[in-house]
Amino acid sequence: MAPSAEPARAASPSRHIRSFVRREGRFTPAQQRAFAEHWSRYGLDADSDLAQAFARPVPCVLEIGFGNGEQLLWSAQHEPERNFIGIEVHRPGVGRLMNALAAHNVDNVRLYNHDAIEVLQHCIAPDSLAEARIYFPDPWPKKRQQKRRLIQPLFVELLGTRVAPGGRLHLATDWADYAAQMLTVLETSTAWRNTAALERFVPRPAWRIETHFEKRGRRLGHGVWDLVYERC
Ligand SMILES: C[S@@+](CC[C@H](N)C(=O)[O-])C[C@H]1O[C@@H](n2cnc3c(N)ncnc32)[C@H](O)[C@@H]1O
Repeated sequence: MAPSAEPARAASPSRHIRSFVRREGRFTPAQQRAFAEHWSRYGLDADSDLAQAFARPVPCVLEIGFGNGEQLLWSAQHEPERNFIGIEVHRPGVGRLMNALAAHNVDNVRLYNHDAIEVLQHCIAPDSLAEARIYFPDPWPKKRQQKRRLIQPLFVELLGTRVAPGGRLHLATDWADYAAQMLTVLETSTAWRNTAALERFVPRPAWRIETHFEKRGRRLGHGVWDLVYERC
């Protein structure tokens, strides 16, 4: 299913980025149960009709690689006037978030358990998102691994076709050289305009919390860099 074949085809080389490894890690019985009990409420598949997925047609925010979903749960609770789509390949994280959403009876979130690049290409319609958020994407620190980083020119062009003009892209990382790469990629993209001055980072905005993952980075002495761009 492709909402629009044209932009997806134009950006199709980005599907070759393999930005993750399928490490299942510990998949607890409670996380496994979440798929049986809550997937029909929160889960989206390739053939799900996104237009019918939410009760209300309000602006939609996408979070890619939400990990254990701490931020996404907080966002959904603190921005109840928006819908949220989360994409994550790591099943334990998806299970954990579904349990938390159900426990708090949150209903403005839907989740894909799949590769974000394929979801963007085949399931998300052009100009349909108000915002995209990618927090602490895998840094792939070794030189030979850096081709696996998500934030690359073709990927941000693909994202640019899915976020509506005037919409926002928010990235954060705790790796200095990935922050520099993000800046270079976005400053050279014609789809995105820096909301700060040219080539500038922004302080952490109020809508992003400090997650467990970020706190661990800080304990290791890492800095944190936020970038907020607007779709041209
Ligand atoms: C370093 S973790 C950060 C998690 C979370 N955003 C946080 O700040 O705590 C990166 C996450 O992105 C997910 N990920 C990486 N590539 C992805 C892709 N192409 N599609 C969906 N999820 C992806 C990984 O499984 C991992 O959970």
